[in-house]
Amino acid sequence: WNLHTLTQEKDLDFFVCFSSVASLLGNTGQGNYAAANAFMDTLAHHRRALGLPGLSINWGAWAEIGLAAEIDRQQQTRLAAMGMGAIDPEQGIPVLAQLVEQTDNTQVGVFPMNWPKFLKQHQQIPVFLSELAETLSTNLSASVDPMEELLKRPPEEQKKYLMNHVRTELNRILGFKPSQPMDPDKVFTDMGMDSLMIVESRNRLQANLKHRFPSTLLFDYPTIQRLVDYIADEVLELESPEEGATDTDRTPNRTEGILSRLEQLSEQEAEKLLAEKFCLAT
Ligand SMILES: NC(=O)c1ccc[n+]([C@@H]2O[C@H](COP(=O)([O-])OP(=O)(O)OC[C@H]3O[C@@H](n4cnc5c(N)ncnc54)[C@H](OP(=O)(O)O)[C@@H]3O)[C@@H](O)[C@H]2O)c1
Repeated sequence: WNLHTLTQEKDLDFFVCFSSVASLLGNTGQGNYAAANAFMDTLAHHRRALGLPGLSINWGAWAEIGLAAEIDRQQQTRLAAMGMGAIDPEQGIPVLAQLVEQTDNTQVGVFPMNWPKFLKQHQQIPVFLSELAETLSTNLSASVDPMEELLKRPPEEQKKYLMNHVRTELNRILGFKPSQPMDPDKVFTDMGMDSLMIVESRNRLQANLKHRFPSTLLFDYPTIQRLVDYIADEVLELESPEEGATDTDRTPNRTEGILSRLEQLSEQEAEKLLAEKFCLAT
């Protein structure tokens, strides 16, 4: 504050405050430190509002130098376990140079984080981080192959997995939280789905489940229950739990059944069936 008041008449190029991640994310036992840094952050905003240069950088812990280098190993291990990494000076200095050059920033956080690890510690995600948590969960689930995941599960769990997957995808398209419950019998258009969303939903399900669907999929099966029933029973032909139970009695399993049905078909009939199944042009 003293520097701010004493330099107001000076034509400064920069006014850079070295703040801490503590004022953004908080840190156990550092309430006073977080408050002091929040003051600096606010000062940078105040200066910008006055038309003066101002930048507050919320640094994470620097490795090797300064305050953080003095903290003991136990403390460092604690931070790492929380998903908070340290800034290597070789990476941090160029970031500082870059930020000082970009005069349009007022407050910037610079801290290496393992976000999934960090967020896992919160029973309830702070509102401030909820959007980030949503994006992370989208990216994480995007890296999972839903068909592979589904087939790994025992028959009695497959339909439930499919229902969760479809609900998550539709919720995302509707702009809801992925885990938001969905009335199984509510018509999609009554949930706010427009025709573009309906086509996008079909495209996503088609890509994720690796099956071709007609563009009218969500019109033909307009509730999540009907949609999942159709995909499970008619497209993926998932075994119902009861069917799974009879397997142990050594009735022919599904693959054997399909093979024996195929053997009874002529070559032409088999080709026609395949073409129909995979929407191929004959
Ligand atoms: N190091 C980190 O990982 C880290 C992370 C986030 C934020 N920060 C923030 O960055 C700033 C610098 O951290 P640091 O690690 O470089 O700290 P540091 O190694 O403890 O250095 C602090 C510097 O401030 C000077 N100083 C202390 N009291 C002063 C006073 N009353 N008047 C004038 N100068 C004074 C000290 O001078 P003497 O040497 O003469 O005592 C020293 O040069 C701090 O505000 C810290 O909260 C640091």
